[in-house]
Amino acid sequence: MTLIAVLPGDGIGPEVTAEAVRVLTALDLGLTFEEAPVGGAGYDADGHPLPSATLDLARRADAVLFGAVGDTRYDGLERRLRPEQAILGLRAALGLFANLRPARLFKGLEDASTLKREVAERIDMVIIRELNGDVYFGEKGIRPTADGRRQGYDVMAYAEDEVRRIAHVGFRTAQGRKGRLCSVDKANVLETSQLWRDVVIEVAAEYPDVALSHMYVDNAAMQLVRDPGQFDVILTGNLFGDILSDQASMCAGSIGMLPSAALNDGGKGLYEPIHGSAPDIAGQGRANPCATILSAAMMLRHSLNRPEAADRIEAAVATAIAGGARTADLGGTLSTRAMADAVLAAL
Ligand code: IPM
Ligand code: MG
Repeated sequence: MTLIAVLPGDGIGPEVTAEAVRVLTALDLGLTFEEAPVGGAGYDADGHPLPSATLDLARRADAVLFGAVGDTRYDGLERRLRPEQAILGLRAALGLFANLRPARLFKGLEDASTLKREVAERIDMVIIRELNGDVYFGEKGIRPTADGRRQGYDVMAYAEDEVRRIAHVGFRTAQGRKGRLCSVDKANVLETSQLWRDVVIEVAAEYPDVALSHMYVDNAAMQLVRDPGQFDVILTGNLFGDILSDQASMCAGSIGMLPSAALNDGGKGLYEPIHGSAPDIAGQGRANPCATILSAAMMLRHSLNRPEAADRIEAAVATAIAGGARTADLGGTLSTRAMADAVLAAL
């Protein structure tokens, strides 16, 4: 039995995960789904964003399908109880260190991008973001300075083995694509980045077939809007990857189209759209389910060893988009459900 933990979360999370489950069910792959609350919904149900029963389910399952977490309603809570802690907790507890965020422009969405058509249509990249380290997980707090002012701090740190294992993921991903890896850092200022760069160069010796380049993160942000077509695989740390992947998603038409995978070294994965919970449109049936449906496809490919089923879902989304199916984020009027219907029809 293959068990999928479905963690819908908050805002539009439940709406989009329901459609992804519907698509997976239609493929008749013998998957079993079990749902549990997470994020604000976890806090409401159990007083904690990542209830222990939810974490247990995620551990037991073969893969996790995650919606989104977060709502301004919880902003007043202390940090450890806020919805975002659920996803950070899952990443840490399951050792999900490798975040794969593909960004490509689907045919037909050339005009949905904020970039000029001839620039946008060349976008086809994967951002490999490290997910278990960096300022996200370093020591943090608010402390008094000697003269009594409050000072916030978040320690940025990477150990060489953490860099090495994500670098291998980057090089292997590049081998399966166009063979180009661009490592993004801030080595002109940060010691963390200098170590990152040194280790990536060491690992490169094992991948003579991959062309490695390095770019400072500020330049990378600029190049992503100047000429995103130059990138094949981007390898970067947790914070830079967070920022650059949102940027890349908009270049590719809509954040509503982009899936992601977070993997550990045992093939276990958590799959989620890269967009957030969008509380402003929650409950209205207006969210684009494609990012979550495409995340389900990544799940089939990376955790469940069903690459042919993954290809079918991705082709169905492409067909639906090419046929004119559009939710509001893409300038159309289809509801969440009708968009998923269009994908199912193409399937
Ligand atoms: C993401 C999100 C998360 C992150 C938040 C919700 C903690 O922005 O997955 O990109 O910063 O990693
Ligand atoms: Mg983010």
